[in-house]
Amino acid sequence: MLRHLTDTRDFSKEEIKEILLKASQFLNGDYTDTLKKKLVINIFFENSTRTRSSFEVAAKRLGAEVVNLDVATSSSTKGETLSDTATNLDAMGPSAIVIRHSNPGVPKILSRYVKSSIVNGGDGAYAHPTQALLDLFTLNKALGSVEGKNITIVGDIKNSRVANSNIELLQRFNANVTLVAPVHFMPSYSNVRKLYKLEDAIKDTDAIISLRTQTERHQYPIYASLKDYALDYKITKKLIGDKKIFLLHPGPVHRNIDIDDDMLEDERTLVLKQVENGVAVRMAVLEKLILDR
Ligand code: NCD
Repeated sequence: MLRHLTDTRDFSKEEIKEILLKASQFLNGDYTDTLKKKLVINIFFENSTRTRSSFEVAAKRLGAEVVNLDVATSSSTKGETLSDTATNLDAMGPSAIVIRHSNPGVPKILSRYVKSSIVNGGDGAYAHPTQALLDLFTLNKALGSVEGKNITIVGDIKNSRVANSNIELLQRFNANVTLVAPVHFMPSYSNVRKLYKLEDAIKDTDAIISLRTQTERHQYPIYASLKDYALDYKITKKLIGDKKIFLLHPGPVHRNIDIDDDMLEDERTLVLKQVENGVAVRMAVLEKLILDR
């Protein structure tokens, strides 16, 4: 059966455990060209540094061919509808199409028009499933397991697809999730613990996921300045002290606004580990979607 990954709920807990186990093997270099002769197309309608190249490296490590559609020069700027662009690319016979779009729901809608697996590389403020999977993988490695652990998400949670996907996945794996943000960055979920002061959360947290303020999604400036935001929500080495707290961030980091220089260099900060793990997790996701049919 053709499968897609449009949000974290597309995979059961058992399937996610399998994917993360596979990712561990891949991380140890234990892989071959299982996707040889398969084609993966990347279409990114929003900027990306890590996610697009991570999918490309992942697909190539397993022997697949990769085509990156340059959206700025594609026919979408000539008025072609998104579904027409997708069905035309689909006609070239890719096994998977990885898509990022600023509108929530685009990957899900396109999945109805194509014969290849759609992988969501981030849609608006809705979902970023592979980021959540790689964050879970990274947290599991650091903490043994997230079960019963306290995980704090800090930042512009309301506008963050990363937060959305992480909350769903972490809660499904029985972590205690706490959200920390100013009122206007706090989502309206009722089933998650919410705190407004960073100091209150770090007393008993095992890990923090810091998020960037999603200025591109704000209709008008919410904080007087990012400096003002940083005064209350920046993760600093001074704040963390000698506590055993791991720190994650999906990138791009607003240096000295989200996290200070000293903490970014600290060995408890796993930002580059996330990038490394991300390739292995995406290899496992692509392999599952393409070969498990
Ligand atoms: C994030 C994204 O684009 O959703 N980055 C990423 O994929 N690693 C987070 C962000 O842009 O802040």
